[in-house]
Amino acid sequence: CGIVAVIGSREAAPLLLEGLRQLEYRGYDSAGLATVELLAEDGSSRLTCQRAQGKLVNLTACVEEKGAPGHCGIGHTRWATHGKPEERNAHPHRDGSGLVAVVQNGIIENHRSLREALEAEGVRFVSETDTEVIPHLISLELRALQVQDRVVNGRMLLEAVQRVLPQLKGAYALAVVWAEVPGALVVARKQAPLLIGLGEGEFLCASDTPALAGFTRTILPMEDGEVALLTPLGIELYNAQGERQQRSPSLLSGGDQVADKRHFRHFMLKEIHEQPETAELWVARHLPPDLSSDEPVALPLDHSFYADLERIQILACGTSRHAALVGAYLLEQFAGIPTSVFYASEFRYAPPPLAPHTLTIGVTQSGETADTLAALTMDAQRRQAHGEPAFAPRQLGVTNRPESSLTRQVPYILDIGAGIEVGVAATKTFLGQLLAFYGLALAFAARRRQRSLSEIASLKDELRALPDQLRSLVELHDQRCEVLANRFADTQDVIFLGRGINYPIALEGALKLKEISYIHAEGYPAGEMKHGPIALLDARVPVVSIAMPGVVFEKVLSNAQEAKARDAKLIGVAPECPDTALFDALLPVPEVSEWISPLLTLVPIQLLSYHIAAHRGLDVDQPRNLAKSVTVE
Ligand code: G6P
Repeated sequence: CGIVAVIGSREAAPLLLEGLRQLEYRGYDSAGLATVELLAEDGSSRLTCQRAQGKLVNLTACVEEKGAPGHCGIGHTRWATHGKPEERNAHPHRDGSGLVAVVQNGIIENHRSLREALEAEGVRFVSETDTEVIPHLISLELRALQVQDRVVNGRMLLEAVQRVLPQLKGAYALAVVWAEVPGALVVARKQAPLLIGLGEGEFLCASDTPALAGFTRTILPMEDGEVALLTPLGIELYNAQGERQQRSPSLLSGGDQVADKRHFRHFMLKEIHEQPETAELWVARHLPPDLSSDEPVALPLDHSFYADLERIQILACGTSRHAALVGAYLLEQFAGIPTSVFYASEFRYAPPPLAPHTLTIGVTQSGETADTLAALTMDAQRRQAHGEPAFAPRQLGVTNRPESSLTRQVPYILDIGAGIEVGVAATKTFLGQLLAFYGLALAFAARRRQRSLSEIASLKDELRALPDQLRSLVELHDQRCEVLANRFADTQDVIFLGRGINYPIALEGALKLKEISYIHAEGYPAGEMKHGPIALLDARVPVVSIAMPGVVFEKVLSNAQEAKARDAKLIGVAPECPDTALFDALLPVPEVSEWISPLLTLVPIQLLSYHIAAHRGLDVDQPRNLAKSVTVE
């Protein structure tokens, strides 16, 4: 979910809608906003709330028709957790009187017990969400404060929120408005991101930077447990103990990047086409010509990062986990360091026994994935509790968002610098993550003397040649895959096979296809096909085999033969050569060293999924039920 809140001298609704447009990648099941307007006649004020199921355009139409006046307001775009994506479950949620409105991003874990207690006091709930308890609780506190004959102002709203926050368990970011005070807004966060953007005589808060980028470059990221009262005159920031905080704002990096589709039909297609640039930038940053021979790659990591390292564990979700699997292959096979990859959501509750001298890497393009952040926190806490220096936490984050929560959590960051990615299905950030691991593998292999100078030099040469190779591959496969996609009109299942360093690319191929075309797909290590998926095969099931020359080339080809013998239609992602003549269709990839091959085989599998989904007329950039940044557990 994404939240925005604004207060200042301009109409709030257009600013909120624009902010939400930038946050729509965080969920688009429903959207809503609430504004508070000062009625000039008698000094009284009024709260207006508009909500709509489905994408933001529905809310925009609703606001245009019915209006949402006022200079202060909150907005939300939802990725459903508790309760179906219906209008009644859309945020903002209000108390019974309709005077307090709240938007929330996160999960209130104890909402059931809070709800029962409120219901016992006669409060009626209208939604199934966890959020609705918050406006009711705030409303009760406001009533209690009003009984004491206190002045009705923004501070009263702040105090009511401060009394409610300790009652909420879970991770959240929230924003609150109250019909009685048109000049005040209260925001709070706990383990979910929230940033305050400082404009001229106005403030805009948002759960992520894209919503702020077009508004201001001066930001104040809120720290965990903080709550703030915003008025057109300024910010009052408090920590969880109620102590006033003073902090200088910082500058938003990359704020001038504008998400523009250019001539492409979808952002995803544009982002696939941007991959040569991602690689070019990486080469320029990390493989500059003037590197010394004992430092094969330029990385922002110091001696203590590398010292006495014995093993690596990588925590990630989704596509980032697939990048981590390629990374683990490189770190083990090229650089010789034992490496394990975990689903962050699994690691949180079943971590392996603690081992000394371990580097933990969190991979997350958004830098906000709740499971990955929590898994990293848990790892650090466990290590600190152990006490012995050999077990001390050593953590590295790999991200496309150096301004994200991840950066505030880990001491070392590799910024993949892929630029804003709008398509929910990750493409260029996947390439960027892979490249980060190539950098690490080079650095470790050289330090540990695991590879000869010539092996290291040859991998570097191939990486330097990558941008041009990607350029021609993207052009070629954009056309080839478009033609091939026509054949997939009625396909219901697709199997992706790969082995070794290309096994994760098979997983990624299946994930991409599922995500955007809604066709069932499975990625499998080619050698495992005979132990299960082979039962699915017949003439209606295409099998995509990634077969690149190297240790498993012949093996993958014979696994493909086994599929062909069951009438499956074979699509090869492989070099054009006599060995690969068995494929019914070939998506050719130049013959390169096996080490580098995943960086090329990823192109046809991305474009194949893209064209199949586009051919089906689906919403490629915002596939159903998904969100780009999943900030709930
Ligand atoms: C969501 C996105 C995926 C992404 C995953 C992990 O599910 O739809 O594309 O791979 O989150 O996101 P992260 O930001 O941690 O890489």
